[in-house]
Amino acid sequence: MKDNALIQKAIDMRKKSVAPYSGYRVGAAAMTDDGTIIGGCNVESSSYGLTCCAERVALYRAVAEGHRSFTALAVATKNGGSPCGACRQVIWDLCKDIPVYIADEKGKVRETTSRQLMPDAFDASQLTKQPNS
Ligand code: THU
Repeated sequence: MKDNALIQKAIDMRKKSVAPYSGYRVGAAAMTDDGTIIGGCNVESSSYGLTCCAERVALYRAVAEGHRSFTALAVATKNGGSPCGACRQVIWDLCKDIPVYIADEKGKVRETTSRQLMPDAFDASQLTKQPNS
């Protein structure tokens, strides 16, 4: 099943994490509408606030590679932690309502959706000027 490959990619991406400050390694993987899987990992900065989460690295990397439509997202952490608020906003903006798989280091997977993670979301539909693309 495709989603198993997606979850495995997120688990594998944890190894690429650069997390010398928190020690909390996160991997993520986005499934695109053509079946391509794009991975990301958290990258921390000595100026802590500049850190970028794994989910956003995966999605921004996918966008930079020309993908604009996503069908699922997987996140892997040590303890099954769920996406932060900033990532939830970005996931909603770029993916709308998709399944989100959250795995822990033992491979236990919880399935949720981006709508469940971000109820009553703010998004482009509330802006008076609509986005160009
Ligand atoms: N982190 C993520 O990569 N994704 C999240 O959704 C939660 C937090 C990272 C950021 C930081 O490098 C570390 O986990 C601890 O907050």
